[in-house]
Amino acid sequence: MTVVDEVKSRLDIVEIISSYVTLDRSGQRYKAPCPFHQEKTPSFMVYPDRQSWHCYGACASGGDVFSFVMRAENLDFAETLRRLSQQAGVALPTSQRHTREQVAYQINEAAKSYYQGILASDQGLSARTYLEKRGLTDDSIVRFELGLSPQDGESLRNHLAGKGFSLEQLTEAGVVRVNDRGQSRDLFRGRLIIPIRNSHGELGGFGSRALDDSGPKYLNSARTPVFDKGRILYGLYLAQEAARQQGLVVVEGYMDAIMAHQNGFTNVVASMGTALTRDQVAEIRRLTGKVVMALDPDAAGQQATLRSLATSWEVFQKLVTERDRRQRSGETIMFQRQEDLELKVMSLPDNLDPDELIRRSPQEWAELVEGAVPLFEYLLPAVSRQLDISTPRGKAQVVEMLFPFIAAVPEPIQQDLYFQQLAAYIGVDEGTLKASTGRFATGRTSNQAGGSGSAGTGRRPKPAGREVE
Ligand code: UTP
Ligand code: MN
Repeated sequence: MTVVDEVKSRLDIVEIISSYVTLDRSGQRYKAPCPFHQEKTPSFMVYPDRQSWHCYGACASGGDVFSFVMRAENLDFAETLRRLSQQAGVALPTSQRHTREQVAYQINEAAKSYYQGILASDQGLSARTYLEKRGLTDDSIVRFELGLSPQDGESLRNHLAGKGFSLEQLTEAGVVRVNDRGQSRDLFRGRLIIPIRNSHGELGGFGSRALDDSGPKYLNSARTPVFDKGRILYGLYLAQEAARQQGLVVVEGYMDAIMAHQNGFTNVVASMGTALTRDQVAEIRRLTGKVVMALDPDAAGQQATLRSLATSWEVFQKLVTERDRRQRSGETIMFQRQEDLELKVMSLPDNLDPDELIRRSPQEWAELVEGAVPLFEYLLPAVSRQLDISTPRGKAQVVEMLFPFIAAVPEPIQQDLYFQQLAAYIGVDEGTLKASTGRFATGRTSNQAGGSGSAGTGRRPKPAGREVE
């Protein structure tokens, strides 16, 4: 017997329908004015023997208890099944994966509340002082749901075990880890806790920051079925409304994003130290095509940063191609708004990160966002500054560093414009430049760039050169 049959066998259609309309017995069946249309003479019948209903009036339709409840409550089948199975006392065989994810989210929510409680308690005094020194308001602490993990390594585990979660569930959710000696320990000990919600508001995992010099400065939840740092942008849940209106600004750090929001720049998210991945860009494009990345001014010359920028750029180029293809084929593009897809860069002065800069001058931050320049235009001088472009060797180095960006541009005319810009900038004939770039092509020529579907996946360069977990 299917679950649906089992639910039906345990329910009485007369009883269920009676809670919606008053049924009059008439022989073997029941009659009522149809609940689904206006009528004076009853043409709605319920047949207990067949467990069915039928309207012989304007509806001219009928069915079983499921179709009745679906119509009466305006529910889909799944939701109807959920309700009726509960009423019938039949357990639904929910997919295992689904329940495990739900449990992980529940554990994270419970852990989050616990951490918040610790931060607000006597134990949280020095952490609160730390936050105050960094200029965070109580409002930000509440908004970003910051917390504190106890030092002892077992309080959270015990707390959650007391709520009925098993050790296996706690380790799967990632808040507890079994060490080499087989002991289960809280993952975060004595750290500031930064809950990370996805764009639906689900709490997938946590970031954390050390409050002293012991241990790594940042430590994040490991990858779990509900958490993948490369798929989430920190703060997007809170930033999406503003991003729809104003475009999105991407910073690196948790504190950068929080400080931005605190000062009214609510369209800011943090990439959590890595290049924008394909998944992250896919999230962004649902909201806006305008993205500004905040960059440290020295960063552009560093290979690691360049690689990470190239990744973001490639992913972006793919979107541009997709948009153009769809426009040509006349498809409506739901996610794409009026403005163009553009990836811009703002550079930060005086070795400040966004957190420090915004604290120094929100006004200055706003101006820098406003003055952001398209990525390629930004890279030309930024890269050249690090090298001596008066020498052939320096020119060649600039070309080598920027070629991946040009190669990723799928549109030939646009690509040509970038070639022209580069040639003019370093004072080299365009033809010579193009001829020379053959040496760098890594398996694909510039003409087929973007056509391989590999952006952000197969050939993804390593993100910014440091440990990010
Ligand atoms: P930073 O090291 O630049 O730190 O990392 P920060 O944000 O300026 O931190 P404060 O101001 O000293 O507190 C930038 C971001 O990169 C991610 C985090 O999201 C961090 O906020 N990150 C960095 C990691 O996830 N893991 C790491 O090991 C380092
Ligand atoms: Mn910082």
